[in-house]
Amino acid sequence: MTLAVHFINGPNLNRLGTREPQVYGIQTLADIENMIREVGTADITFRQSNVEGELVNFIHAAADAGAAIVINPAAYTHTSVALHDALKSVDVPSVEIHLSQPAKRETFRQRSLVAEAVTGTISGFGAQSYILGLHAAVNLLKARKR
Ligand code: DQA
Repeated sequence: MTLAVHFINGPNLNRLGTREPQVYGIQTLADIENMIREVGTADITFRQSNVEGELVNFIHAAADAGAAIVINPAAYTHTSVALHDALKSVDVPSVEIHLSQPAKRETFRQRSLVAEAVTGTISGFGAQSYILGLHAAVNLLKARKR
């Protein structure tokens, strides 16, 4: 049985590696994608956009493919009713992930509009948050298939 997981990355994550490395680490998004593909537990689709509506389309595409969603909505975490609604509109497991721990950061990062619409959240483990997100998504898919 093929388990499919779609990774959806929001704004500015294409700049990982050079973007505030003290907060987000030195790995690029391509490094993280390679790390995820090496795990080999699921068929991986890995996407990034700086455009909110494109992220909505990626969520719909994941659902249409019957794939679990692992999403780092980046700054849209804290502002996007559209992403909240998109995640609520689909019937596949979804995991919100963050490299940093927003709860320890500025006040404006301490509210996630996405958290209210996903299955669960993993944050604060750097690039490992992506691996943990993959494990969570695969486990959720397996539980549904039983
Ligand atoms: C982030 C945290 C967000 O607050 C921020 O806007 C990001 C990255 C993270 O992965 O830690 O762009 O989602």
